[in-house]
Amino acid sequence: MPSHLHWTLLLSSLLGGASAAGLYTKSSPVLQVDAKDYHSLIAKSNHTSIVEFYAPWCGHCQNLKPAYEKAAKSLEGLANVAAVNCDDDDNKPFCGQMGVQGFPTLKIVVPGKKPGKPRVEDYQGQRSAKAIVDAVVDRIPNHVKRVTDKDYESWVLEDDESPKAILFTEKGTTSGLLRSLAIDFLGGIKFAQVRSKESETVDKFGITSFPTLVLLPSGNDAEPIVFEGEMKKAPMLEFLSQAAQPNPDPRKNKAVSSQKKKTASSPTKKFQDAPTESPGPEVEVSPEEKPVAVPIKVPSVDQLSTPEDLQAICLTSKSGTCILTLLPETESPDSELPAPAKEALSAVSELSHKLTGHHLPFYSVPAINSHSKILRNELGLSEATEIIAVNGRRGWWRQFPSASSSDDKTEFSLHSVESWVDAIRLGEGSKTKLPDGVVLVSDEKNEEKEAEAEIEVETPVEETGENGDTKEVPHDEL
Ligand SMILES: *[C@@H]1O[C@H](CO)[C@@H](O)[C@H](O)[C@H]1NC(C)=O
Repeated sequence: MPSHLHWTLLLSSLLGGASAAGLYTKSSPVLQVDAKDYHSLIAKSNHTSIVEFYAPWCGHCQNLKPAYEKAAKSLEGLANVAAVNCDDDDNKPFCGQMGVQGFPTLKIVVPGKKPGKPRVEDYQGQRSAKAIVDAVVDRIPNHVKRVTDKDYESWVLEDDESPKAILFTEKGTTSGLLRSLAIDFLGGIKFAQVRSKESETVDKFGITSFPTLVLLPSGNDAEPIVFEGEMKKAPMLEFLSQAAQPNPDPRKNKAVSSQKKKTASSPTKKFQDAPTESPGPEVEVSPEEKPVAVPIKVPSVDQLSTPEDLQAICLTSKSGTCILTLLPETESPDSELPAPAKEALSAVSELSHKLTGHHLPFYSVPAINSHSKILRNELGLSEATEIIAVNGRRGWWRQFPSASSSDDKTEFSLHSVESWVDAIRLGEGSKTKLPDGVVLVSDEKNEEKEAEAEIEVETPVEETGENGDTKEVPHDEL
């Protein structure tokens, strides 16, 4: 184990006393988790969680507290915001096994395909409420099917019996709120999102305003019920509960049972114990305390595989900056990508991981996405791997200057891509105007109205980051 953790543990023992009391009070929106209930509350949750590993005496942890509590309030109902007191003797081996090497350490726990086997990522973004909220919302799993006129029938018929909820919206993306509701009702209600332009389906339900939530209570014959309340988590959950019970919230039991048990041990005893109790993979833990193995994070970037996604996410008059890696055509869909493409993907994956929380989305666009060809033509790009930045709202784009063929140095090295992205984040360098027609002009009024109604989490949260604020370029400014 790293010597500095050793020292912090030793120091905390010397200081003594404070370790029994955590940083967060019972009434805090931050859920206090320990080695014993981490598995049931976090690892097994169908919801995404962020977990802070901290020590109460650590200054950076105390500084983070207001922002972290603010993030917890914004994320209420959308994701779990939890904290583990690593100064508590009972938690020390667990913190060590989670690879905690300094305080505070923030990890985002994303539910995997199998219950209890989540993906755990280090959060390395800014320590501000907004950055934390954005990073967590980005990682809320999406169980909402985007349904079009073409596949509406098959979606409905797929499962005749199940209650269904449909959100009619003008948006192409699925809000964190809707995704979190779908998770609450996993196994109970099937969720879909239908865009306003799917006129057949819209007309079928007689929808005239957006967003509108409709519930098909049981099977497909029952009369649809239109939700008339506020587009907020609690009323929506209550409305949908008439068709199926939401999955039980494991935190409900927690509130009563485990907050009180705390061990009090004397500083002297802890001082003596500290060196031998040092957490680390070699430490034996009893089976029920054994934390889940932490999978190693494989960096990756999200793919925009359909023309609709590419357009809706990065090429509308409301889209902020997107970093797109356009992939070249391969002989067959599953043959390997050429080396420069792999190199570009590895560089952007690494960067997107590094910039987690900075709200600068990175996407790859495979050649089978027909819109990528159109985009290449419009922008005069080659058919090879290209990395570009586009900003639909401001109407500009930029191309990563990959080395020419005469140049045998690495084309897409992490270093060169990173400096290029940094320059964009800092607003340096020249931008090229996007040709007309590339960007889809969306209806401002409706989009804004919906954004307000649907995304509670975007209630403004101040930047309270203690450092690095100067480097941050807000998404909107790009
Ligand atoms: C997670 O979702 C499954 C359905 O896919 C459900 O059976 C289970 O109870 C949920 N777990 C929790 C902890 O809510």
